[in-house]
Amino acid sequence: MIRPELLQEKAIEYVTLLFAGNSGGHDAEHTLRVYRMALYIAEREPGCDREIVALAALLHDVDDPKLFSTAGNRHARDFLAAQNVPADRIELICRAVNSVSFSLNRGQTPDTPEGRIVQDADRLDAIGAVGIARTFAYGGEHGRSLRDSVRHFYDKLLLLKDMMNTDTAKRIAAERHAFIENYLKELEAELEPGS
Ligand code: NI
Repeated sequence: MIRPELLQEKAIEYVTLLFAGNSGGHDAEHTLRVYRMALYIAEREPGCDREIVALAALLHDVDDPKLFSTAGNRHARDFLAAQNVPADRIELICRAVNSVSFSLNRGQTPDTPEGRIVQDADRLDAIGAVGIARTFAYGGEHGRSLRDSVRHFYDKLLLLKDMMNTDTAKRIAAERHAFIENYLKELEAELEPGS
């Protein structure tokens, strides 16, 4: 079987090619940040399989219906099978990936530690300084006004802090949440000069 480090390198190459041309919210850079954050959390969480965490993080968006019309984790499965990953490992990885997706999982907490870690890492990438940048990049792409993008902070991003699964992610989310709140305070002040 292929060495874990080499397999992860191959997965990085795969997502870099697959997401080439995408920008803003769902690009290869997002995936790589989620991957590194997931590994950081995994090191602090006992009882998880770090290789499953790593691969689920790297492949968590490769069959995202907003970007691709693949069914049944086709991209992830084809990639892993081509690397001779055993079928039972492929199942574990896809199970973790699918438990992260809000649309597939309807807001339920992932049923494995690996899924919970990758979900935390994915959500952490939506808040903090990167979250602010991604929100406005997405807003710009979709012709949203600054005010509409700001509403997204209140409707969605400020809720994420209380949705983290692991203690490590809760701690990081609290910091990033406070950063967004400070940012919004400053932004509101600048949007209404003199008030
Ligand atoms: Ni993602």
